Amino acid sequence: MNLRNKALSATLLLLGLAGCITFSAYKTPKGAEKTIDQRVDSLLAKMTLQEKIGQMTLYTTDWGATGPTIREGYTNDIRSGACGALFNSHTVEFTRELQRVAVEETRLKIPLIFGYDVIHGYKTIFPIPLGEAAAWDLAAAEQSAHIAAVEAAASGLHWTFAPMVDICRDPRWGRVMEGAGEDTYLGCRLAEARVRGFQGKGLGNTDAVMACVKHYAAYGAPMGGRDYNTVEMSDRYFREFYLPPYAAAIKAGAATVMTSFNDFDGVPATGNKYLLNDILRDELGFKGFVVTDYTSINEMTSHGVVANEKEAGELALNAGVDMDMQGAVYQRFTAESLKEGKVSQKEIDTAVRRILRIKFELGLFEDPYKFCNAAREKRELLSKPHREAARDIARKSVVLLKNEREALPLSKDAKLAVIGPLADNTSDLIGPWSAAGSGDDCVSLLAGLKAQHKGKINYVKGCDVEGDDRSGFTAAFSAAQAADVVVVVVGERATMSGEATSKVDIGLPGVQSLLIEKLAATGKPVIVVLMNGRPLVIPEVDKNATAILEAWWLGTETGNALADVLYGSYNPSGKLPMSFPRSVGQIPVFYNEKSTGRPFDPNSKWTSKYIDSPNTPLYPFGYGLSFTTFQYGAPTVHKTRFRKREIVKVQVAVTNTGKVAGEEVVQLYVRDLVGSVTRPVKELKGFQKVMLQAGETRTLVFELGEEDLRFYRFDSTFGSEPGEFDVMVGGSSDEVQHIRISLD
Ligand code: GLC
Repeated sequence: MNLRNKALSATLLLLGLAGCITFSAYKTPKGAEKTIDQRVDSLLAKMTLQEKIGQMTLYTTDWGATGPTIREGYTNDIRSGACGALFNSHTVEFTRELQRVAVEETRLKIPLIFGYDVIHGYKTIFPIPLGEAAAWDLAAAEQSAHIAAVEAAASGLHWTFAPMVDICRDPRWGRVMEGAGEDTYLGCRLAEARVRGFQGKGLGNTDAVMACVKHYAAYGAPMGGRDYNTVEMSDRYFREFYLPPYAAAIKAGAATVMTSFNDFDGVPATGNKYLLNDILRDELGFKGFVVTDYTSINEMTSHGVVANEKEAGELALNAGVDMDMQGAVYQRFTAESLKEGKVSQKEIDTAVRRILRIKFELGLFEDPYKFCNAAREKRELLSKPHREAARDIARKSVVLLKNEREALPLSKDAKLAVIGPLADNTSDLIGPWSAAGSGDDCVSLLAGLKAQHKGKINYVKGCDVEGDDRSGFTAAFSAAQAADVVVVVVGERATMSGEATSKVDIGLPGVQSLLIEKLAATGKPVIVVLMNGRPLVIPEVDKNATAILEAWWLGTETGNALADVLYGSYNPSGKLPMSFPRSVGQIPVFYNEKSTGRPFDPNSKWTSKYIDSPNTPLYPFGYGLSFTTFQYGAPTVHKTRFRKREIVKVQVAVTNTGKVAGEEVVQLYVRDLVGSVTRPVKELKGFQKVMLQAGETRTLVFELGEEDLRFYRFDSTFGSEPGEFDVMVGGSSDEVQHIRISLD
């Protein structure tokens, strides 16, 4: 090669390298393969303290208000390196511009990550998680999370603040809509499925987003069911019932964890070293990064464990919090805290390393715009396959609570009166935490019925969700009288559940129950469709309705899904993931209670009971009817005694004794009859959802091993104890058949 060419090639090489350095200072030069940790270290070594603190700072844009403060000037924060992540920031157009500022206008060009509360769908909205839990369908839960991730990642997002895995036994708490209900086992399986769905084949794939397990920890057990309130429980109770779903999500590979607002054993979770280091890091081996909830560092001053925000930041960082959401505490005080020796450089570097490692794993240093593809965004959002999946999962989430006089399924030729404030509603159907979803994309129940009905439909609103205006009752009554069957669509507003929406009265709001009572007086079959974000107290509805469907908030395809169920083209298979109390006075009421020393005995005064109510809920955990019926044979076991390394096969024959095919969720419960501490009267240890044709019998096999019988024993070690166990199988927690086994 002549001199000129050599000079030219040298120039090109230098330009190339320079381009490489200016475009991405940490792209591995060919042949010099570096591990991500090596690349993180080489970047860390170049960073100033302010730049490091910037990476530990997460701010919201002004595109959404999911907390008490909104910052102006976040673009300047990016430009100055004051923040390394944003949330409530989505769409290709918006994130591309924000990312451009970060990778072109800052000194080190470190890419941003974008987060958002994609809880049950991004643009195509699926049933609220509590509703989806009623499907008892792990594949469906994984699918909806995967579709949410595909759409979110197509719109520039890298990170969802989900799954929320807080166990809750108190429907006064509005955030029950966001979780999996009252049971630890079901909560664990759904947490795993949702993490798998969000993260898919792994970080960096453009059809996946980082999961964020929240709210760590025990946020679902606030005193009085009042959001943000104190959580007080024993370590044993925490580890037995509330910790496992967080652990399951982490074991499933969740990349990040979010701290909760509540205090736990007197220390706010956001400054709780026992939770964030001893359990999360040391016991559970969590390797990702911890982000706070919205200004939860600042709020430790209100908790009264620190005198000011600077001390709050020191407590949080020393406890193991890596990223400060919206509080700007790290941004304002950490440099000074470091100078004073209140925090260490090591802690700062450890936090920054955890965050940078994830940015490298996402592939953002190679291509900061890899999630900004406008064509993909256009193709994926609200696509036909996504809507079809939303309709399918919505159908599966519906729970049939009552069906007398064979009122359901409906005939498509019947004269239908469709009544109620939510019958023609679309704006509430996406429920709380509905991300970029829109009511405009939703199918109302009325529209869904009209799309399939052949006979006459007469729609009358009848009343509002709230208020005591009964002026619409007369028209509703006339419509019912003129119809063959009445469908009444009632419930809550979507704004009545979700964050900061705890209620002391969880009956049907307004005069909706009265409307149902009036309509029942016509003697026509009255089918009540409930749309709500929490278990409701509805004894009067149970009394007056001929049939009741629990429809939660089903999302974009609500009307089509409910029409499929109402006409029987889909036979409802949902089972309640949370008990429905008879009254607020019963709360907390849940299936896996302890026996007590005086278990209820109807023939004795001196037993654990109320003198004005049964102990049992109106509808129990695991309950749900079908348009067919199922009969269970007595369970059998292939051995009644077993040792530690053996398993017991529990078999049960289930028969579809009705006229139509249907799915049944067969549930397996276990009771440890004698333990070194008191044990629940039953605990869910397995379930199988099976489709049975009319007349078909299927023998199902469950495998139980010693590890299924482990608990936190008297000495606080986790393990099993020899003894007798009552194994129960059935289609609801209150309808089971028993068999005894024993562990040597
Ligand atoms: C809210 C919620 C949390 C959410 C966060 C960001 O306060 O508690 O679940 O992820 O702020 O919107």
